[in-house]
Amino acid sequence: MTHRRPFIGGNWKMNTDQGAARALARQTAHGIGQTPKVELAVFVPFCYLLEVGRVLTEAGLPQALGAQDVYPEPDGAFTGEISCHMLRDCGVRAVLTGHSERRHIIGETDDLIRRKTHAALAAGFMVILCIGETLEQREAGRTNHVNRRQLKSAFDGFEPSWGERLIIAYEPVWAIGTGKTATPGDAQSAHETIRATIGEHLGADAAQSTRIIYGGSVKPDNASDLFSQEDIDGGLIGGASLDAQSFVRIVQAARGG
Ligand code: PGA
Repeated sequence: MTHRRPFIGGNWKMNTDQGAARALARQTAHGIGQTPKVELAVFVPFCYLLEVGRVLTEAGLPQALGAQDVYPEPDGAFTGEISCHMLRDCGVRAVLTGHSERRHIIGETDDLIRRKTHAALAAGFMVILCIGETLEQREAGRTNHVNRRQLKSAFDGFEPSWGERLIIAYEPVWAIGTGKTATPGDAQSAHETIRATIGEHLGADAAQSTRIIYGGSVKPDNASDLFSQEDIDGGLIGGASLDAQSFVRIVQAARGG
């Protein structure tokens, strides 16, 4: 981790219910307190955004409210979808795009992910764009190729002024929810390539200032080793974010102990 301010996101996925979401938000916010050193967000199921937003606001962390997805069109006949305007209306500040579960389970394409990413950035959100290779792609030696392809698509038509609100999450698909983590060295090497690719598209300054976070079975026990790598600027945490104590310990690791 370098001069870039670390970012830690908790991705709750399709978990909790109203009571559990409220309790988890409260315990998480109280465990963490105000942390100027680390930027935080929790990515909450749509139906609990308002409730969790209230809890975070009471705890003095209103800026930590995040959504797991967004639809790129402003309004209209898109049954089941949620627009940028609706998210803003619920107090959301950060949005995930391109999560591997949306790419590989729901079937989102690079093109749809680009449209979502651009719409959310244009609407003023902080966007965490997730990229990463499957096990098959990794074993075929295609890790860098896949990351480059997913980034290239997202950077097509990208406005330079959006850059400061973009965070890249490198999440090797084989490490998500499996208990298998990339070694700190492997993750660092992928992050280095990702930073170089950002440089090719957005220039050297953007490459240096853009935060690249790691996701995939980050736990309190491995967080410090990952976050101590030069190009790893925090984490996107799935399973461990559902336990407030574990998440708080990961945030402490990002603070430097
Ligand atoms: P995990 O999920 O920490 O449970 O592996 C990470 C993610 O999907 O963002």
